[in-house]
Amino acid sequence: MATQPALVCDFSSVLLSLSRVREFVDPLLAQALELSNDAPDRLAEAMRHSLLAPGKRLRPALVLWSTVACGGSWEFAKEAAMAVEMIHAYSLVHDDLPAMDDDDLRRGRPTCHRQFDEATAILCGDALQALAFETLCQHADPSMAGRWCAVLARAAGAEALCGGQADDLAAESKHAALPVNMSAIESDQLGWLEKIHRRKTGELFCASIELGAIAAGADTQHREALSTYARSFGLAFQIADDILDAQGSEVTVGKRVGKDADRGKLTFPSVIGIEKSLIRAESLAQQAVLSLECFGDRGTELAMLARWIVERDH
Ligand code: IPE
Ligand code: IPE
Ligand code: MG
Ligand code: MG
Ligand code: MG
Repeated sequence: MATQPALVCDFSSVLLSLSRVREFVDPLLAQALELSNDAPDRLAEAMRHSLLAPGKRLRPALVLWSTVACGGSWEFAKEAAMAVEMIHAYSLVHDDLPAMDDDDLRRGRPTCHRQFDEATAILCGDALQALAFETLCQHADPSMAGRWCAVLARAAGAEALCGGQADDLAAESKHAALPVNMSAIESDQLGWLEKIHRRKTGELFCASIELGAIAAGADTQHREALSTYARSFGLAFQIADDILDAQGSEVTVGKRVGKDADRGKLTFPSVIGIEKSLIRAESLAQQAVLSLECFGDRGTELAMLARWIVERDH
């Protein structure tokens, strides 16, 4: 991917900023997993294995940086930062199951069902999802908790993450027996693919940004700008994920590569090729950056992150 010196400089500061997010959020996540004896050891261990594994923490970063862009503070948004990572971790555990993508490597570690067993992995996902909403409800202001829950529940539901995951599976050749809207795929393959990506990945990014904006009491103009940013960011991110699967390194990415082609997934490289996918991802990242104009310097971290997600190697 591109190697302009100016961007390389940006990227070391993005990585530093992401490490600060990890230092803030990881102890909070570990604390949230201090469960009573009523949680069986094996289940609690599976939850720690999956939630505390070394991920990039992009979704907490989006919560915290969008709240700062709107004049808020990390402390006031911390439950939201934790909850989006819990939903994300649950979605990864289920995404890796044999009935879904059937993966054995995640964040450089064995996937949850490989390390434990399938039933434990299913229950681990279920419990992480429940914990996300319980965590939101721990915010000191009950009206904030209620507004947050509505946003996150929609993003995790059938019209968003779960719906996108269902259609992602239905569109792959190994799930050819599942009902799939063939006429929609045939008439507009790229449009259908974008709709899958928007729901399975994009909606949780949009929710992360929205939770941060709500925490800061952002006005309509700022929320609309952030929503435009998040939509472009989400699609750019998933195109880059598709590209990494096609030509990334397993050691760096921390998950198996080449599996999308192997399963006959509908992805950007499979539909328009690597070159055009890269161009599309970069133009979306550019659009994301442009939508942050009204934030001035307070949008710097969000802007750098949008540039980085299309250039990243993991
Ligand atoms: C991977 O997301 C799953 C997708 C939505 C494609 P990330 O690339 O953010 O995964 P982690 O959290 O860094 O492991
Ligand atoms: C996963 O997309 C999306 C969700 C977990 C909701 P992918 O299947 O492309 O993610 P990876 O490549 O396994 O991380
Ligand atoms: Mg998948
Ligand atoms: Mg997968
Ligand atoms: Mg992928």
